[in-house]
Amino acid sequence: MKTSFETPRLILRELRDSDDTGLFELDSDPVVHQYLGGKPVTSIEQCRNVIAMIRDQYRQHGIGRWAVIHKETGEFMGWCGLKVEKNVNGRNRFYDLGYRLIPRFWGMGYATESAKAWTDFGFSELNLETICAYTSPGNLASQRVLEHCGLRHTETFLYEGEPEFWYETNGNN
Ligand SMILES: CC(C)(COP(=O)(O)OP(=O)(O)OC[C@H]1O[C@@H](n2cnc3c(N)ncnc32)[C@H](O)[C@@H]1OP(=O)(O)O)[C@@H](O)C(=O)NCCC(=O)NCCS
Repeated sequence: MKTSFETPRLILRELRDSDDTGLFELDSDPVVHQYLGGKPVTSIEQCRNVIAMIRDQYRQHGIGRWAVIHKETGEFMGWCGLKVEKNVNGRNRFYDLGYRLIPRFWGMGYATESAKAWTDFGFSELNLETICAYTSPGNLASQRVLEHCGLRHTETFLYEGEPEFWYETNGNN
């Protein structure tokens, strides 16, 4: 199983312990958490626990969210990837496409570039049948990223009491 791949501007690779400061810059920012329940982290220790949890998912499922690294500068920009999720919107087990970038990297197509690469990887190398995602109705940037990756809004459901948009693709659209 691969542990990294590249796009024209990005390196996508498994998260490492040394990504803790980058992850803290990302997840301590309230702007990043606007559509994610509004609970930014307050200590780097929380980020270290997240990295350990994600590395455990790599061991269990072979994949999970990976770091997004700027190819030219080597900067940690955030994460993107497919994660095995369970029991959301009536699905017992599915592959969830997700992404989260530090705001200074927003608006330059990086999320689309990384999420498209992950979608291609999911269908061509992991032979997945379906890739799913869910996002808040207000998160227009996220919806655009999903649409660029071929996912379509198929349902609206209640998630923790709030409406949420469900997206999916079987790779043929
Ligand atoms: C979602 C996120 C990753 C998008 O990152 P990004 O690098 O700015 O995305 P891109 O540059 O690839 O742009 C994606 C599209 O969204 C559009 N977009 C960006 N911000 C927007 C906004 N506020 N309103 C409407 N459209 C917006 C862009 O114009 C682009 O569309 P286009 O290609 O048709 O012009 C980033 O906003 C983020 O990290 N948000 C916080 C975490 C999050 O919400 N993750 C998703 C959870 S479901």
